[in-house]
Amino acid sequence: MQITVKIKRFDPEADTRPRWVEYQLDVDPTERVLDVINHIKWELDGSLAFRRSCAHGICGSDAMLINGVNRLACKVLVQDLGNRITVEPIRGLEVKKDLIVDMEPFFDSYRAVLPYFINDEPPPPTERLQSPEERAVFDETTKCILCAACTTSCPVFWTNGSYVGPASIVNAHRFIFDSRDRGTLERLEVLNQSNGLWRCRTAYNCTEACPRDIPVTQAIEEVRRAMLFRG
Ligand code: SF4
Ligand code: F3S
Ligand code: FES
Repeated sequence: MQITVKIKRFDPEADTRPRWVEYQLDVDPTERVLDVINHIKWELDGSLAFRRSCAHGICGSDAMLINGVNRLACKVLVQDLGNRITVEPIRGLEVKKDLIVDMEPFFDSYRAVLPYFINDEPPPPTERLQSPEERAVFDETTKCILCAACTTSCPVFWTNGSYVGPASIVNAHRFIFDSRDRGTLERLEVLNQSNGLWRCRTAYNCTEACPRDIPVTQAIEEVRRAMLFRG
């Protein structure tokens, strides 16, 4: 299959603004976009910069805007896109080079919601027990791989980069609804600030973008309800 791949490139040492570069390739329709851009880097243009690691939808490092939609390059098949493919960096974060963006603001927001287990009570002799029903309440939000596809598809984040963003709320949800955790009030306080979850306008882009099928908007609503319930 003959395809044309158009990649939005930016070299901070040579360019003043991003530019589109086209590549023509012969590929198997069952190849993934990650295979295609690996091919471009390894055989056509070694200067192309992008992140990837696991190649199996687990590490979350290759989120890109592919034909206008945030996806993981390792999870999209060429045959599902047709013979013209556009690839751009995810939006709302500073582009460092080509498809590589500065993820630090994203991880700053993630760290702000205390995404770890908090409980200073003395541990029981064996372990902190939890029923299957209690575990099921936050099962979906344990699946996050921090790819940023949700946050960088959110129109609120595009206009206000300090909005905490859906990925952080998902990771707060994972601990807020954990029956063993005691850090809920601290997390809700963070999310109640001016750039916290009240900024969400229920646009749903985040839910559509999530490669792990996490019901992101629903998780945001559940945290909102927890906030209202706890006053
Ligand atoms: Fe990626 Fe989904 Fe986690 Fe957002 S919620 S960072 S889209 S895995
Ligand atoms: Fe943004 Fe998702 Fe809310 S796209 S506005 S965080 S529902
Ligand atoms: Fe790890 Fe795609 S390379 S998720």
